[in-house]
Amino acid sequence: MVKRKRRQAPLAPRSEPPVRPGLLSPMRYVPASIGRPPYAETGDPGPSSSSNVRTPDEVERMRRAGSAAAEILLEVGPHVVPGVTTDRLDEVVHQATIDRGGYPSPLNYRGYPKSVCTSVNEVICHGIPDSRPLADGDIINVDVTIFLDGVHGDTSITLAVGEVSDADRRLIAETRVAMDEGIAAAGPGQPVHAIGRAIERHARRHGLGVVREFIGHGIGTEFHSGLQIPHYHDGRATTVLVPGMTFTIEPMLTLGDPACGMWDDDWTAVTLDGRRTAQFEHTLLVTDDGIELLTVTAEGTVPADVFAVESSIASA
Ligand code: MF3
Ligand code: CO
Ligand code: CO
Repeated sequence: MVKRKRRQAPLAPRSEPPVRPGLLSPMRYVPASIGRPPYAETGDPGPSSSSNVRTPDEVERMRRAGSAAAEILLEVGPHVVPGVTTDRLDEVVHQATIDRGGYPSPLNYRGYPKSVCTSVNEVICHGIPDSRPLADGDIINVDVTIFLDGVHGDTSITLAVGEVSDADRRLIAETRVAMDEGIAAAGPGQPVHAIGRAIERHARRHGLGVVREFIGHGIGTEFHSGLQIPHYHDGRATTVLVPGMTFTIEPMLTLGDPACGMWDDDWTAVTLDGRRTAQFEHTLLVTDDGIELLTVTAEGTVPADVFAVESSIASA
Protein backbone atom coordinates (compact mmCIF):
# COMPACT_ATOMS: atom_id res chain seq x y z
CA MET A 1 0.00 0.00 0.00
CA VAL A 2 1.26 3.45 -0.89
CA LYS A 3 0.82 6.07 1.74
CA ARG A 4 -0.06 9.45 0.37
CA LYS A 5 2.50 11.98 1.44
CA ARG A 6 1.07 14.46 3.85
CA ARG A 7 2.61 17.82 4.56
CA GLN A 8 3.54 18.13 8.20
CA ALA A 9 3.26 21.41 10.06
CA PRO A 10 6.41 22.47 11.87
CA LEU A 11 5.94 20.85 15.26
CA ALA A 12 4.03 23.29 17.45
CA PRO A 13 4.31 22.75 21.18
CA ARG A 14 1.28 22.89 23.44
CA SER A 15 0.37 26.43 24.38
CA GLU A 16 1.96 27.38 27.72
CA PRO A 17 0.78 28.32 30.20
CA PRO A 18 -2.66 26.83 29.57
CA VAL A 19 -5.62 29.21 29.67
CA ARG A 20 -7.50 28.83 32.97
CA PRO A 21 -10.92 30.16 33.98
CA GLY A 22 -10.93 33.59 35.63
CA LEU A 23 -13.64 35.48 37.52
CA LEU A 24 -16.84 36.66 35.84
CA SER A 25 -18.24 40.16 36.31
CA PRO A 26 -21.98 40.59 37.03
CA MET A 27 -24.43 40.28 34.13
CA ARG A 28 -24.50 43.44 32.02
CA TYR A 29 -27.62 45.55 31.61
CA VAL A 30 -29.48 46.10 28.34
CA PRO A 31 -31.82 49.15 28.26
CA ALA A 32 -35.51 48.26 28.15
CA SER A 33 -35.91 50.25 24.93
CA ILE A 34 -33.81 47.74 22.95
CA GLY A 35 -35.58 44.94 21.09
CA ARG A 36 -34.65 41.52 22.47
CA PRO A 37 -34.62 38.06 20.93
CA PRO A 38 -37.17 35.63 22.44
CA TYR A 39 -34.56 33.77 24.52
CA ALA A 40 -33.29 36.91 26.29
CA GLU A 41 -35.53 36.32 29.32
CA THR A 42 -35.69 32.51 29.47
CA GLY A 43 -32.37 31.48 27.93
CA ASP A 44 -34.23 29.02 25.69
CA PRO A 45 -34.32 29.71 21.93
CA GLY A 46 -36.71 26.77 21.44
CA PRO A 47 -36.65 24.56 18.33
CA SER A 48 -35.69 26.23 15.05
CA SER A 49 -38.77 26.95 12.94
CA SER A 50 -37.67 29.52 10.35
CA SER A 51 -37.29 28.94 6.62
CA ASN A 52 -33.81 28.56 5.06
CA VAL A 53 -34.67 31.40 2.66
CA ARG A 54 -35.07 35.04 3.75
CA THR A 55 -37.64 37.52 2.46
CA PRO A 56 -36.30 40.65 0.71
CA ASP A 57 -37.21 42.68 3.79
CA GLU A 58 -35.30 40.28 6.07
CA VAL A 59 -32.30 40.45 3.73
CA GLU A 60 -32.29 44.25 3.93
CA ARG A 61 -32.40 44.09 7.74
CA MET A 62 -29.63 41.47 7.76
CA ARG A 63 -27.40 43.82 5.75
CA ARG A 64 -27.78 46.37 8.53
CA ALA A 65 -27.23 43.82 11.34
CA GLY A 66 -24.23 42.42 9.48
CA SER A 67 -22.60 45.79 8.95
CA ALA A 68 -23.24 46.71 12.59
CA ALA A 69 -21.48 43.49 13.66
CA ALA A 70 -18.51 44.39 11.43
CA GLU A 71 -18.39 47.90 12.91
CA ILE A 72 -18.33 46.43 16.43
CA LEU A 73 -15.32 44.25 15.51
CA LEU A 74 -13.59 47.37 14.15
CA GLU A 75 -14.33 49.14 17.43
CA VAL A 76 -13.11 46.36 19.74
CA GLY A 77 -10.02 45.42 17.71
CA PRO A 78 -7.75 48.24 18.97
CA HIS A 79 -8.54 47.20 22.58
CA VAL A 80 -6.87 43.83 21.99
CA VAL A 81 -3.48 44.60 23.59
CA PRO A 82 -1.41 43.04 26.38
CA GLY A 83 -2.84 43.65 29.87
CA VAL A 84 -6.47 44.12 28.83
CA THR A 85 -8.88 41.60 30.35
CA THR A 86 -11.36 39.71 28.20
CA ASP A 87 -14.06 41.13 30.51
CA ARG A 88 -13.06 44.62 29.33
CA LEU A 89 -13.47 43.43 25.70
CA ASP A 90 -16.95 42.23 26.70
CA GLU A 91 -17.73 45.66 28.12
CA VAL A 92 -16.60 47.35 24.89
CA VAL A 93 -18.64 44.99 22.69
CA HIS A 94 -21.69 45.26 24.96
CA GLN A 95 -21.64 49.07 24.84
CA ALA A 96 -20.89 49.20 21.10
CA THR A 97 -23.87 46.90 20.46
CA ILE A 98 -26.25 48.99 22.56
CA ASP A 99 -24.92 52.20 20.93
CA ARG A 100 -26.20 50.79 17.62
CA GLY A 101 -29.61 49.99 19.09
CA GLY A 102 -28.91 46.26 19.15
CA TYR A 103 -28.99 43.41 21.66
CA PRO A 104 -25.78 41.35 22.11
CA SER A 105 -27.06 37.99 20.83
CA PRO A 106 -24.85 35.78 23.06
CA LEU A 107 -26.24 37.29 26.29
CA ASN A 108 -28.37 34.55 27.95
CA TYR A 109 -28.44 32.49 24.73
CA ARG A 110 -28.87 28.99 26.27
CA GLY A 111 -27.71 30.66 29.49
CA TYR A 112 -24.43 32.06 28.10
CA PRO A 113 -23.44 34.75 30.63
CA LYS A 114 -21.68 37.39 28.49
CA SER A 115 -22.15 39.55 25.37
CA VAL A 116 -19.30 38.22 23.20
CA CYS A 117 -17.13 35.10 22.93
CA THR A 118 -13.38 35.58 23.51
CA SER A 119 -11.38 32.44 22.73
CA VAL A 120 -7.69 32.61 23.65
CA ASN A 121 -4.85 30.32 22.42
CA GLU A 122 -5.99 26.68 22.76
CA VAL A 123 -9.63 27.71 23.29
CA ILE A 124 -11.44 26.70 20.08
CA CYS A 125 -14.64 28.73 20.58
CA HIS A 126 -17.23 30.02 23.08
CA GLY A 127 -14.60 31.30 25.53
CA ILE A 128 -16.34 33.37 28.23
CA PRO A 129 -14.89 36.83 28.93
CA ASP A 130 -13.42 36.99 32.44
CA SER A 131 -10.71 38.57 34.58
CA ARG A 132 -7.78 37.06 32.63
CA PRO A 133 -5.53 39.78 31.17
CA LEU A 134 -4.23 39.21 27.65
CA ALA A 135 -0.52 38.43 27.51
CA ASP A 136 1.97 39.44 24.83
CA GLY A 137 2.09 36.52 22.37
CA ASP A 138 -1.52 35.37 22.92
CA ILE A 139 -3.90 34.90 20.02
CA ILE A 140 -7.61 35.61 20.52
CA ASN A 141 -10.78 35.09 18.53
CA VAL A 142 -13.44 37.72 19.17
CA ASP A 143 -16.87 36.51 18.00
CA VAL A 144 -19.51 39.27 17.81
CA THR A 145 -23.22 38.74 17.18
CA ILE A 146 -25.80 41.54 17.23
CA PHE A 147 -29.60 41.20 17.18
CA LEU A 148 -30.85 44.32 15.37
CA ASP A 149 -34.31 44.98 13.99
CA GLY A 150 -35.34 41.35 14.46
CA VAL A 151 -32.36 39.64 12.81
CA HIS A 152 -28.84 38.52 13.76
CA GLY A 153 -25.42 39.32 12.25
CA ASP A 154 -22.58 37.00 13.35
CA THR A 155 -18.88 37.52 12.60
CA SER A 156 -15.49 36.81 14.15
CA ILE A 157 -11.78 37.36 13.62
CA THR A 158 -8.62 36.09 15.30
CA LEU A 159 -6.14 38.75 16.40
CA ALA A 160 -2.54 38.65 17.55
CA VAL A 161 -1.80 40.18 20.97
CA GLY A 162 1.52 41.98 20.67
CA GLU A 163 4.22 39.84 19.04
CA VAL A 164 3.22 36.26 18.23
CA SER A 165 5.21 33.28 16.95
CA ASP A 166 5.65 32.43 13.26
CA ALA A 167 3.54 29.29 13.75
CA ASP A 168 0.70 31.39 15.18
CA ARG A 169 0.90 33.91 12.33
CA ARG A 170 0.70 31.09 9.86
CA LEU A 171 -2.24 29.52 11.72
CA ILE A 172 -4.17 32.80 11.76
CA ALA A 173 -3.37 33.72 8.13
CA GLU A 174 -4.24 30.29 6.73
CA THR A 175 -7.47 30.03 8.76
CA ARG A 176 -8.55 33.29 7.14
CA VAL A 177 -7.69 31.91 3.71
CA ALA A 178 -9.56 28.68 4.51
CA MET A 179 -12.72 30.69 5.29
CA ASP A 180 -12.30 32.62 2.03
CA GLU A 181 -11.87 29.35 0.11
CA GLY A 182 -15.08 28.06 1.68
CA ILE A 183 -16.89 31.25 0.65
CA ALA A 184 -15.48 30.99 -2.90
CA ALA A 185 -16.84 27.43 -3.16
CA ALA A 186 -20.36 28.56 -2.19
CA GLY A 187 -22.96 29.98 -4.55
CA PRO A 188 -26.36 29.26 -6.07
CA GLY A 189 -26.60 25.67 -7.33
CA GLN A 190 -23.66 24.48 -5.22
CA PRO A 191 -24.15 21.73 -2.63
CA VAL A 192 -23.29 22.60 0.99
CA HIS A 193 -20.53 19.95 1.00
CA ALA A 194 -18.51 21.98 -1.53
CA ILE A 195 -17.80 24.48 1.25
CA GLY A 196 -16.31 22.02 3.74
CA ARG A 197 -14.38 20.27 1.01
CA ALA A 198 -12.63 23.53 0.02
CA ILE A 199 -11.85 24.41 3.65
CA GLU A 200 -10.50 20.96 4.46
CA ARG A 201 -8.34 20.89 1.33
CA HIS A 202 -6.72 24.19 2.28
CA ALA A 203 -6.15 23.08 5.89
CA ARG A 204 -4.58 19.82 4.79
CA ARG A 205 -2.20 21.56 2.38
CA HIS A 206 -0.91 23.57 5.32
CA GLY A 207 -0.78 20.71 7.82
CA LEU A 208 -3.58 22.20 9.92
CA GLY A 209 -6.48 20.35 11.60
CA VAL A 210 -10.19 21.13 11.11
CA VAL A 211 -12.51 21.06 14.14
CA ARG A 212 -15.59 18.91 13.45
CA GLU A 213 -17.73 19.51 16.55
CA PHE A 214 -18.73 23.08 15.64
CA ILE A 215 -20.15 24.01 12.25
CA GLY A 216 -21.57 26.98 10.37
CA HIS A 217 -25.29 27.56 10.64
CA GLY A 218 -28.36 29.12 9.12
CA ILE A 219 -29.00 32.56 10.61
CA GLY A 220 -31.66 35.25 10.29
CA THR A 221 -34.56 35.87 12.65
CA GLU A 222 -33.00 33.02 14.65
CA PHE A 223 -29.36 33.01 15.89
CA HIS A 224 -28.92 29.38 14.81
CA SER A 225 -31.45 28.01 12.33
CA GLY A 226 -31.83 24.77 10.38
CA LEU A 227 -29.00 24.87 7.81
CA GLN A 228 -25.81 23.08 8.87
CA ILE A 229 -22.47 23.92 7.25
CA PRO A 230 -19.67 21.48 8.13
CA HIS A 231 -16.13 22.80 7.67
CA TYR A 232 -14.85 19.37 6.57
CA HIS A 233 -15.97 17.31 3.62
CA ASP A 234 -19.23 15.55 4.46
CA GLY A 235 -20.88 13.95 1.43
CA ARG A 236 -24.19 13.87 3.32
CA ALA A 237 -24.43 17.68 3.20
CA THR A 238 -26.32 17.54 -0.11
CA THR A 239 -28.56 20.60 0.39
CA VAL A 240 -28.23 22.82 -2.68
CA LEU A 241 -27.76 26.54 -2.04
CA VAL A 242 -30.42 28.81 -3.51
CA PRO A 243 -30.74 32.62 -3.63
CA GLY A 244 -32.00 34.10 -0.36
CA MET A 245 -30.32 31.59 1.95
CA THR A 246 -28.30 33.16 4.78
CA PHE A 247 -25.75 31.23 6.81
CA THR A 248 -22.33 31.46 8.39
CA ILE A 249 -18.99 29.95 7.44
CA GLU A 250 -16.76 29.87 10.53
CA PRO A 251 -13.93 27.34 10.32
CA MET A 252 -11.79 26.55 13.36
CA LEU A 253 -8.31 25.29 12.38
CA THR A 254 -5.68 23.84 14.70
CA LEU A 255 -1.89 23.55 14.81
CA GLY A 256 -2.26 20.01 16.13
CA ASP A 257 -5.01 17.41 16.57
CA PRO A 258 -8.47 19.03 16.19
CA ALA A 259 -10.00 16.76 18.87
CA CYS A 260 -11.90 18.89 21.32
CA GLY A 261 -12.65 18.94 25.04
CA MET A 262 -14.93 21.06 27.19
CA TRP A 263 -14.36 22.99 30.42
CA ASP A 264 -16.64 22.46 33.42
CA ASP A 265 -18.50 25.65 32.45
CA ASP A 266 -20.05 23.61 29.58
CA TRP A 267 -19.15 26.38 27.11
CA THR A 268 -15.38 26.72 26.71
CA ALA A 269 -14.22 24.31 23.99
CA VAL A 270 -10.47 23.57 23.95
CA THR A 271 -8.09 21.41 21.95
CA LEU A 272 -7.36 18.19 23.86
CA ASP A 273 -3.68 18.36 22.91
CA GLY A 274 -3.40 21.97 24.18
CA ARG A 275 -2.14 23.31 20.86
CA ARG A 276 -3.43 26.60 19.49
CA THR A 277 -6.42 27.19 17.24
CA ALA A 278 -7.85 30.07 15.19
CA GLN A 279 -11.24 30.95 13.70
CA PHE A 280 -12.81 33.44 11.28
CA GLU A 281 -16.52 33.90 10.56
CA HIS A 282 -18.75 35.77 8.12
CA THR A 283 -22.53 35.85 7.73
CA LEU A 284 -23.35 35.32 4.03
CA LEU A 285 -26.23 35.68 1.59
CA VAL A 286 -26.67 33.51 -1.50
CA THR A 287 -27.56 35.84 -4.40
CA ASP A 288 -28.70 35.08 -7.95
CA ASP A 289 -25.13 35.03 -9.18
CA GLY A 290 -22.87 34.46 -6.19
CA ILE A 291 -22.33 35.20 -2.52
CA GLU A 292 -22.70 38.51 -0.69
CA LEU A 293 -20.77 39.12 2.53
CA LEU A 294 -23.26 40.59 5.01
CA THR A 295 -20.71 41.21 7.78
CA VAL A 296 -18.84 44.09 6.14
CA THR A 297 -19.35 47.80 6.84
CA ALA A 298 -21.60 49.93 4.61
CA GLU A 299 -18.41 51.11 2.88
CA GLY A 300 -17.31 47.52 2.30
CA THR A 301 -14.58 47.40 4.97
CA VAL A 302 -13.75 43.87 6.15
CA PRO A 303 -12.44 43.75 9.76
CA ALA A 304 -10.25 40.73 8.96
CA ASP A 305 -8.39 42.94 6.46
CA VAL A 306 -7.98 45.81 8.91
CA PHE A 307 -6.41 43.57 11.59
CA ALA A 308 -4.75 41.18 9.14
CA VAL A 309 -1.97 38.99 10.49
CA GLU A 310 0.51 38.21 7.72
CA SER A 311 2.31 34.92 7.63
CA SER A 312 6.06 35.56 7.37
CA ILE A 313 6.66 32.01 6.16
CA ALA A 314 6.44 31.42 2.42
CA SER A 315 3.59 29.01 1.88
CA ALA A 316 2.49 26.75 -0.95
N1 MF3 B 1 -21.27 33.37 17.72
C1 MF3 B 1 -21.23 31.94 17.90
C2 MF3 B 1 -21.40 31.32 16.53
O1 MF3 B 1 -20.67 31.67 15.67
C3 MF3 B 1 -22.26 31.44 18.84
C4 MF3 B 1 -22.04 31.84 20.23
S1 MF3 B 1 -23.29 31.18 21.18
C5 MF3 B 1 -22.91 31.79 22.70
O2 MF3 B 1 -22.28 30.58 16.24
F1 MF3 B 1 -23.92 31.56 23.44
F2 MF3 B 1 -21.79 31.21 23.09
F3 MF3 B 1 -22.70 33.07 22.59
CO1 CO C 1 -21.90 31.62 14.01
CO1 CO D 1 -20.12 33.71 15.82
